[in-house]
Amino acid sequence: MTDLMVTGSEGQLGRALLEVAAACGIEAEGHDVDTLDVTDAGAVREVVSWLKPRVVVNCAAFTAVDACEEREAEAAAVNGRAVAHLAAASDLVGALLVQMSTDYVFSGSAGRPYAESDVPDPISAYGRSKLAGERAAASAREHLLVRTAWLFGNGGRNFVEAIKRQLDGGAAELRVVADQSGNPTYCTDLAEAVLELVDRGARGTVHVVNAGSTTWHGLATEIVRRLGSDVPVRAIRSEALGLAAARPPCSELSTARLEELLGHRLPDWRDALGRYLERACAR
Ligand SMILES: NC(=O)c1ccc[n+]([C@@H]2O[C@H](COP(=O)([O-])OP(=O)(O)OC[C@H]3O[C@@H](n4cnc5c(N)ncnc54)[C@H](OP(=O)(O)O)[C@@H]3O)[C@@H](O)[C@H]2O)c1
Repeated sequence: MTDLMVTGSEGQLGRALLEVAAACGIEAEGHDVDTLDVTDAGAVREVVSWLKPRVVVNCAAFTAVDACEEREAEAAAVNGRAVAHLAAASDLVGALLVQMSTDYVFSGSAGRPYAESDVPDPISAYGRSKLAGERAAASAREHLLVRTAWLFGNGGRNFVEAIKRQLDGGAAELRVVADQSGNPTYCTDLAEAVLELVDRGARGTVHVVNAGSTTWHGLATEIVRRLGSDVPVRAIRSEALGLAAARPPCSELSTARLEELLGHRLPDWRDALGRYLERACAR
C-alpha cells in the first residue's frame, strides 16, 4: 500500500510533489504517460487497485493551451474523461482524489479575484476541458479540487524558462503581454500546500497560488532584474501575439479559503521566483 500516487509525475508539478513527499517521508509512487496513460480506463483501474494509495493526485494534463484549440477532442479525453476514470478507481480503493485545475476555467472578466464559489465560464478549449475534469472529479466520493495558476517548477517548460532562454540567446529586447494578470506560482510551494491540505482533511474546492499578482510583463521584468540583465522589456497587448487560444484578462484567484484552512498564505510570488531562480541558476 502506497500513501500517495501521482499521475503526470514527469511534469513540473508532479516532480515537485514527489520531491516534497520524499522530504516529508511520505511513501509515494509516480506514473507518467509511459507507465500509465490516464485516458486508458482499464489501466487506471489496474494500477490504482494494485497500489491501493490513500491519496491520488492527478497532475496528468494536456497543458499546451493553444494546441488544445485544434485538438479539443484530445484535450477533452486527457483533461476531462480521464478524471472520471481516476474518480471511479479512487472510489474502488477508498482513496481521496486530488484533482489539479486552473484559473483558466474563468473568463477573467469579473474584474476582481475569483473565489471558489464563482461560477466557471471558460473562454478556451483548454479551460472547457479542465472544467469537464473538475466535474468528473466531483463524482469521486472523496475529492479535493485544487485550482492554481501560472506555474513555474524545476525541470518544467514554463514562462520563466522561456524568458531565460531568450536572454541566453542574446535577445536585444523582450516583448511581453501586459494586459493579462494572474498569480505566478512556484510548484514547490504549491506541492507543500497540497500535501498540507490533504493532511488537514480539506475537501471541496480550494484556490492555491502564491501571494500577490502581476502581469506577464511584470513577471518578465522581475525575472530580467533578478538575473542582472538590462535587456528592455516592452509591454505589448495580447492581440499582438496572434495566439490561437483566448486568455482571461484577469484570472487572479482569491486565497481566502486557503488561508482559513491552513492558517497562513503562501509566500509572495517574488520570493518564490527568487528561490526558483537560485536553484535553476545553480543547475
Ligand atoms: N502550467 C501551468 O501554468 C498551470 C496553471 C494552472 C493549472 N495547471 C494544472 O496543474 C497541473 C500540472 O500542470 P504542469 O504544469 O505540471 O503540467 P505539465 O508540466 O505539462 O505536466 C503534465 C504531465 O502530464 C503528462 N501527460 C499528458 N498526457 C497524459 C496522459 N494521457 N496520461 C498520463 N500523463 C499524461 C505530460 O506528459 P507529456 O509532457 O509527455 O505530454 C506531463 O508529464 C495540470 O492539471 C494543469 O492543468 C497548470
